[in-house]
Amino acid sequence: MRVTSYRAGAAGDFAFTEDNAKRAAAAVSHYPEGRQASAVIALLDLAQRQNDGWLPPEAIEYVANYLEMAPIRVYEVASFYSMFYTQPIGKHLVQVCRTTPCWLRGAAGLTDSCRDKLGIGLGETTEDGQFTLIEVECLGACSNAPMVQIGDDYFEDLTPESLTALLDDLKAGKKVAAGSQIGRQSSMPEGAATTLTEVPPREPANTGRAIPGPVPPSGEGA
Ligand code: FES
Repeated sequence: MRVTSYRAGAAGDFAFTEDNAKRAAAAVSHYPEGRQASAVIALLDLAQRQNDGWLPPEAIEYVANYLEMAPIRVYEVASFYSMFYTQPIGKHLVQVCRTTPCWLRGAAGLTDSCRDKLGIGLGETTEDGQFTLIEVECLGACSNAPMVQIGDDYFEDLTPESLTALLDDLKAGKKVAAGSQIGRQSSMPEGAATTLTEVPPREPANTGRAIPGPVPPSGEGA
């Protein structure tokens, strides 16, 4: 059974933990006096991480008070950036990149395998609150397409099968390895290097020849 209105429970009053209060103060200290609003994204991120990955109205108002901003201004930021969520999300937020490079390399198949495995559609959360599935635009790892972001980690060079296995492991509470799922380092070519396969030749040796000086004006030096 799938649900579309999963709620982790009322957030109640919100306040930063002691550790997050220190982090918030440090973030604000990076800006000149009177410009504390510049720390709004950093503080929303702290609040979201403290509240299971989403921002209830109480957290938005708390950040607004903290930064002496109108709550609507903070809500505008929270609702504009796709990294913030104003509804509860699952423990694992699965973001499938669907922009052109990932699309050409099979992103649609990844979304289908998530739907099949989790039994939910886009924008939905599993009944047990474990997974939320969404599609997003380019996440900047195009050369390792297709890829998904789960939580803070990127999983690249995926196939429907390897993504299904990944979801199984997450469901079972196992540790999973982020990065390329075919073992390539960073964005190196699949298989082997195709460029810079030889050590480049050295710079020509210094011959000791004098470097010509400026040409003297006509008439001089004749
Ligand atoms: S298109 Fe998917 S990471 Fe850029």
